Order: sequence, then structure tokens, then C-alpha cells
Amino acid sequence: MATIDLKGKCVWLTGASSGIGEALAYELARRGARVAITARRKEILDQMVARIRESGGEAWSFPGDVLNLDEMKQVVDSIEKSVAPIDIAIPNAGSHLFTKPEEFNSAEYLSIMQLNYGGVLHCLEAIIPRMLARGGGHIAPVASLAGYRGLPRAAAYGASKSALIHFLESIRFHLKPKGFTITIVNPGFVKTPLTDKNDFYMPFLVSSERAAKIICAGIERGKRTVAFPFPFSWLVGFGKFLPAPVYEKIVNQLW
Ligand SMILES: NC(=O)c1ccc[n+]([C@@H]2O[C@H](COP(=O)([O-])OP(=O)(O)OC[C@H]3O[C@@H](n4cnc5c(N)ncnc54)[C@H](OP(=O)(O)O)[C@@H]3O)[C@@H](O)[C@H]2O)c1
Repeated sequence: MATIDLKGKCVWLTGASSGIGEALAYELARRGARVAITARRKEILDQMVARIRESGGEAWSFPGDVLNLDEMKQVVDSIEKSVAPIDIAIPNAGSHLFTKPEEFNSAEYLSIMQLNYGGVLHCLEAIIPRMLARGGGHIAPVASLAGYRGLPRAAAYGASKSALIHFLESIRFHLKPKGFTITIVNPGFVKTPLTDKNDFYMPFLVSSERAAKIICAGIERGKRTVAFPFPFSWLVGFGKFLPAPVYEKIVNQLW
């Protein structure tokens, strides 16, 4: 497995204004990366940039909405013109939607698909041609352990993350021979404003700072998948191979 040094690397990170992305921006900067951060809330990004620079790191704010493909293309163009060619892209922006079968609304399901899957595709469309022209690059989108197999309350969210994982596993066949590293980031429960809304038991909950350290270490090692926290990631991974009745019984007991 190739090892890379984040020091001096130009990293583009989306969903940087909160939770995992926010912690990741600080951790990347602490490890010496030149961090270009994107989210819709410009004022938060600007405050983060100031904080990173005060502590000796390098960061730039490039606000934008991942739902807007043209905006993502402009963001990438601006980063590459004003900072450096992007070495590593981390499309992390995403959200959650609880399944309420009694209020089933296909538009809501498609909107979460559009953000969690379509938003990543927009970012990749903006960056992949440039990386291809340079002979490769590193892409590390944030999916989820919830994308492994069906879970209660997660029909919309899990489907979007499952689509993303499938896409990345497939595109890896095409991009790896062209010099790309694809790291699929699959967190379990991480304490963020997103999960603060959850009113159910979240086993093996980790802090966003801990998540950021694990993700950075996985990217540095050029891992195919960064699934955490252990042993939850192993249990969920193992669950993929269980017969459906056994899997459903275990999940029903947990949640
Ligand atoms: N927390 C967990 O337990 C967990 C577990 C597995 C996977 N994940 C995944 O990790 C990622 C981050 O989650 P989180 O828990 O850190 O959530 P969060 O605290 O709610 O942060 C979400 C981030 O995405 C940004 N965002 C949302 N919509 C956007 C849009 N249309 N365009 C640009 N940015 C947008 C938000 O910024 P603005 O509002 O400023 O745009 C924010 O920075 C998500 O993809 C999530 O699915 C989280």
C-alpha cells in the first residue's frame, strides 16, 4: 500500500463547515496540508480559515453548493488558479433523512439521493478530468457504514450511500490504471450536529476529532476503504454476509 505525506498537498474538502468536515479541515491543516474548504455557509468557512492560519496552517475558503454542478466547476477552477492543482478531493457534504413510511414522499428520498450521491458526482465531474490530464489523483468521498445493508430509519439515507459505494467501487476499475487512488470513507456513528438529532442508541459513537484522525491516517496509507470505528465496522461488514432472517433479528434487537 502506497504511503503519502499530506504535508504540502492541496486538499479540496466539501461539507467543511460542520461535524466531520470541520474536524477534518483542522486535522488536515495540522498535518501540513493546504486545505481548500467548501460548504454553503461562507461566514463559518471564513472563520475556520482565520483559525487555521492563526495556528500556522494553510487554508482557503471556497463557498459553494454541491447541488450546483457549474458552481463546483467554478470552485475547482478557482482553487487550481489561486492555490494549486488539487492532489486530494474529499467530497464529504451530505445529510440524513429519517424514513417515515406513513409519510412516504418520493421527492424527499430523491432529494437526499441528489445531495449524498449527486453532490459527490458533481464534485467528481469537476475534478476528475483535471486529475486525468495530470496522470492521476486521490479521491476520498465520505459514504457510510449505513450503505452496506438495509437498516431501520435509513431507507433514504442508506440507499444514497449504497449507491455511492457501488459507484466508487465500479469507477475504481477504470481510474486505478490511470493513476488514481480511491479511498471510500465509511464512518459508523460520529458525534456531529447531524447525529445530535438522533433519538436512538448509537453504538460505538466517536467524536468528530477522532473520526478526522482515522480518515487522515487512512488517506495517508492510500487505503481502499476507511471503515470505522472498530469493532463496529467489522460487525456491520460481517452483517453483509448473514442470512436475511438472522441479520433482521440482530438489527431488530439493537434498534
Ligand atoms: N455523523 C455521522 O455519524 C456520519 C456517519 C456516516 C457518514 N456520515 C457522512 O459524513 C458526512 C458529514 O456528515 P456530518 O455528520 O459531519 O454532518 P453535518 O455536521 O450536518 O455536516 C454536513 C456538512 O455538509 C454541508 N452541506 C450540506 N448540504 C450541502 C450542499 N448542498 N452544498 C455544500 N455543502 C453542503 C454542510 O454545510 P453548509 O450547511 O454550510 O452547506 C456541512 O458542512 C455526510 O456525508 C454524512 O452522510 C456521517
